[in-house]
This record gives sequence, structure tokens and C-alpha cells, in this order.
Amino acid sequence: MTLRRTPPWSPSKSAELYGIRRWGRGHFDIDAQGDVVVKADIDGNSVAVSLPDIIDGLKQRGHAMPLLLRIENLLDERIALINETFRTAIGQANYGGEYRGVFPVKVNQQRQVVEEIVQFGQRYGLGLEAGSKAELVLALSLLPENGQLVLNGYKDREFIDLGLWATKLGYRCFFVIESPAELPLLLQRSAELNIIPQLGVRVKISARVGGLWTETSGDRSSFGLSTPQLITVIDQLKQQQKLSWLRMLHCHFGSQLPDLEQIKTAIQEAACIYAGLVSEGAPMDHIDFGGGLAVDYTGAQTNHVHSRNYTLDDYCTTLVTTLKGTFDPLGVAHPHIVTESGRATVAHTSLLLFNILNVMPFEPQPQPTASEDPPPELLAEPQQDTTRSEADAADIYQRSLSSRDKIRQDFRDGRVSLRQRAQGEDLFLHVAGSLAAQLTDQSQESTTLAALRRQLAHIYYGNFSVFQSLPDSWAIDQLFPIMPIHRHCHPPEHDAIISDLTCDCDGKLDRFILGNGESDTLPVHPLKEGEEYLIGVFLMGAYQETMGDLHNLLGDTHVASIRINSDGSFDLVKEISGDCIAEVLSYVEYRPEALLDRIRQRAELGVRNGQLTIGERQQFLDQFTRTFRGYTYFRT
Ligand SMILES: Cc1ncc(COP(=O)(O)O)c(C=O)c1O
Repeated sequence: MTLRRTPPWSPSKSAELYGIRRWGRGHFDIDAQGDVVVKADIDGNSVAVSLPDIIDGLKQRGHAMPLLLRIENLLDERIALINETFRTAIGQANYGGEYRGVFPVKVNQQRQVVEEIVQFGQRYGLGLEAGSKAELVLALSLLPENGQLVLNGYKDREFIDLGLWATKLGYRCFFVIESPAELPLLLQRSAELNIIPQLGVRVKISARVGGLWTETSGDRSSFGLSTPQLITVIDQLKQQQKLSWLRMLHCHFGSQLPDLEQIKTAIQEAACIYAGLVSEGAPMDHIDFGGGLAVDYTGAQTNHVHSRNYTLDDYCTTLVTTLKGTFDPLGVAHPHIVTESGRATVAHTSLLLFNILNVMPFEPQPQPTASEDPPPELLAEPQQDTTRSEADAADIYQRSLSSRDKIRQDFRDGRVSLRQRAQGEDLFLHVAGSLAAQLTDQSQESTTLAALRRQLAHIYYGNFSVFQSLPDSWAIDQLFPIMPIHRHCHPPEHDAIISDLTCDCDGKLDRFILGNGESDTLPVHPLKEGEEYLIGVFLMGAYQETMGDLHNLLGDTHVASIRINSDGSFDLVKEISGDCIAEVLSYVEYRPEALLDRIRQRAELGVRNGQLTIGERQQFLDQFTRTFRGYTYFRT
């Protein structure tokens, strides 16, 4: 159903239009004033704080847009939710093992985030997963001394040695063997340092699990041991009398797994492999399913790649009961369950906020009195007819498109003047606009209306960079919920796509999640003189922060972490200034001081050549230094 976007309007109509109650899952909503609110659960009470109020507070503290906002309470809640749901599923199934999760550092390595995860996760014994030496170093610096560490990825001697020393220091490290080549080096270093490691083996699961990362599962996945390789590793361990070191089976079916049935099939296969290792004589007691617990970005609860057709309850219950159902008939003791849920832990906890700088409207200009004859191909504007069928509207639309294209061709051939062409283009926008208004008033969303919306979509220019802040939207067409964060007592009158600050045609957002499905355009309000129009990109705490790049040298945005209090106030608990221009230049090997020196010399030369007075030289240098030390984004 298309919502009529005309007054009377209400925040609940907006909530329905943007689907915020579906993807927001109780964390985000719209209040009676028409502001988007973030909701925190504090001692069993839901406390809502308006995002515009948060932004006002941050502005008073000197912060500018764009800004990445982290909400500590949500991180705390997500960690508790995942752990408690597993505990409940384990209790209900009378399962013998515990849930022992780890956070995969690759999903968000930022110090503030990992510190908070370790702090909030301590009551659940939440550990960390490291897939590289750098991640291991940061994990060791943040985890308590008996913390659980899962070491994935290819490991060289330094990685292995560091993990062995960590084991000796009391960390509960699992070395996950990813390839047969890793084992000899690990055995050798363990003998030389006289430290006994706990081992895991990562296996390939033949069952394919769908989603954006489907290549992570199946025979041709690049990580993990095939079953013949697994047998070779077991035989090597047996020969060296080290099978007693093997305690964990590890597998990872991919990230953002949308379909629970497929997950279940893969778990069954993993459980059978685990049982096989037990019967080989390994003292197994942990099974690690890696990541994959999906986030419902669309809120539609389907098996679409940006959604998931299960709840967290379903996921935890399926893991636990499938393991129990496989192990009990075989008499295999229940292992502790490890998952490496990254996305599901952090996605909800951060959002990007940016202001709209300008609009390129796609609407007809007020008709000037025609100074020339209309172009020969110009069609007359159709009469307003609210009862016109969709098929008739589609026909008129197609004819006016052809007429506009013919006028453009005639212009290129010199038969039509610039003013005549402008008349033709303007009339096309008139026709398209009135057809769109008419179809919007009808109840059915139609393909013609969708095409008209695309044609007529305004371009809203946002103060941000897709490449820096939302790299997955550009690289893998990841969809994030996006919407204005205020003015929801009024109907959004336009449809728009959003272009960023980079001069790149890929630097745009043109797929959106709405309450009635995906859309090529986002409903937006007209800009108001003297008032910022603010857009939020939600659920973007996973993977975006360190994968972003410096396209056009737009750097990291400011980051503010807040904690919501029970009285509806908030504390700014951490703030990080975004990159300044001198910093981004240093990332690409310019030396800021040398650069400033050259500019001073250039200004001095200007004085000598009579291009600048001494006063102008100073003015220029002051301006240069201010810009040089300033934010890389648009400053209003
Ligand atoms: C081995 C491993 N564990 C965990 C994860 C995190 O996955 P997710 O973010 O889906 O939880 C990944 C990411 O792909 C991974 O490769």
C-alpha cells in the first residue's frame, strides 16, 4: 500500500512509512513531537531520548556534523540479550554445556568499542576472537588474564609464540588450525617454549548456507580443513601423542545468514564431525560456530540477504536443540557452545548522523512566457484526471518520455534551440509530476509510479562520505535503514536519493528500506531556511568503521559515545575528534610542517612579487592554517 503523504500526518504514519518499528526492534522509534528517539532499557524501564535533543546537546559541546553516535546502553543490552537468550535455551533444553561467546574483533576494532565489550561482557565471561597478530595484541591488552581467546586466521611464528605466552600467562587460548601446514610449526614452537596449547580445528562444512557470504561455506570455501585434511591432522596429533590437546571444533558458515533451516543443516553436519572427533579419542569439549547470526536490517523477517527469517530465540534454541538431538543418541557429552557473533552484537549500537547541505530539485520551473515557438515534438500536458487507470498513466508517461528524447535528439541535430529544449524538458517534468501525484493518491503501488519516483527524485546532498562511513553500501550493496530524524509530524513531501560530498557517481545512497519494502527513493521533507535537516543511518556499528577509506581525503568523522540515564538525560562518556585535514594528508605521506613551510614561502614570494600586501599575506596564512587544522567535512 502506498501511504498518501498529505496532511493530516502523524508520527505513527511516519513510523509505518519508514518501518522504524520493524527494524528498530524496540531500540528506535518516533515520539509524539515527531523526533526519532533511541530507547534504552534501564532497570526494566524503557527510557526514550530524542536524537535531535542529543544532537543539540552535542552541538553545545562543540560537535559538528557529520557525527558517529554510539549508544553505550545498547551495546550493554545486546551483549546481555545474546548471553541471556543462550542461557535460557540451554536451561530449557537441559543441555549439559555452557554458552561461552567471543566477540570477533574484526567487526569493530575501535578501542572504545572493544573496551566496552570487554567491560560489559565480563559478567558473562565474554571473550575475544583474533584473526591476526594485531588483533591478538589488542585482545591481550584488553582482556582480563583468564579471558577466553579464539585465535583464527593463518598464524606465523610470531602469532603462535604470542598465543603460547598468553596461554602460559593464564589466558584461555584456543589455537584454531585453519590449514594442515600450521600444525608442524605450532608443535615445534610449543616444544621449544615448553608451553602446551589448547587446539581447535576449523572444518569446511559441505552444506551451503545462503546469504551475501555464501562462499564461506561449501567445499570450495577458502578456510578450514576438508575431511581428508582433518584426518591427516588427527593422525599427525596421534603420532606425536598430542591428540589430548585437541578440544574445539570450529566452523564459520558466513556472515549475515538469513535462513534458519540452512543453519540447522550446517549445525547438524558440524555436530556429526564433532562426534567423529570424539570417537577418534580427542578430549573435545567446545564447539564454535563462528559468526553468522544475522541482523534484520529490513525488519521484514524474511530469508532475504538483508533480513533473517528467525528471532534470536529461534537461533539459540536451534543451535542448542540440534546439538542435543545429534549428541544424545550417540552418547556424546554436550560441549560448551561458542559463537563469534559480531554483527548482532554491535550493529544496533552506532548510527551515522549528517546534515543535508543542498537540494537539486527535479521539478518543473515556473513557466516563463514562451519567447519562441514550442518544439515540434512537444506533447500537450494531459488533463488532470483522478480516475485515470494505471495503464493509461503508463502510456502517457511513455509518450512524454519519447517526446522528450526526440526533442533532445533534434537539439543535437540543430533543429531545436536551447530555449525550445528547455520548454520540452520542463513540460516533461510537469507531465511526470502530475501523473505521480495522481498515482500516489491511488491505493496501489505500481511500477509506473516507481519509475516516476525515480525520474523525479530530488538529489539531497549530504555532509558525509559513503566511502568513509558506509563502505559496505558501496562495495556490496549492503542496505542500512536511513531516515530523517525529525519533523515527523509533517508529511515528507518529496522523494529523493542522497548524494555524498565526494565527486564520485558511486558516492550516493539510492536503495532504501521502507515499511512496505525496498525503494529506490527516500521520502524526505523540504529544507527549511535556517534549520538543519538531519538524516540518520542506523544499525551501522558492524564492519563500517575500519573498512572505510579516504576517498577525496574525507577522513574519520567525529565520534561521540553517550550513556542514557534513567531520568532521560544523557552523559557524553567518550568523544573522539574526526580527522583534520593535516592528519588525512599525513596518511598519504605529506608532511604537515613541510607543507606549511612551503605555503609560508609561497606567500612571502607573493609579497615580494606585489601580489599580496603584508596584511593580506597574514590573512591568507591564517585562513590556510585554520583550514589545515580543521575538519575535512563541510562546515556550516
Ligand atoms: C571466523 C569469523 N568469525 C566471526 C565472524 C563474524 O561474523 P558475524 O559478524 O556475522 O557475526 C566472521 C566474519 O565474517 C568470521 O570470519
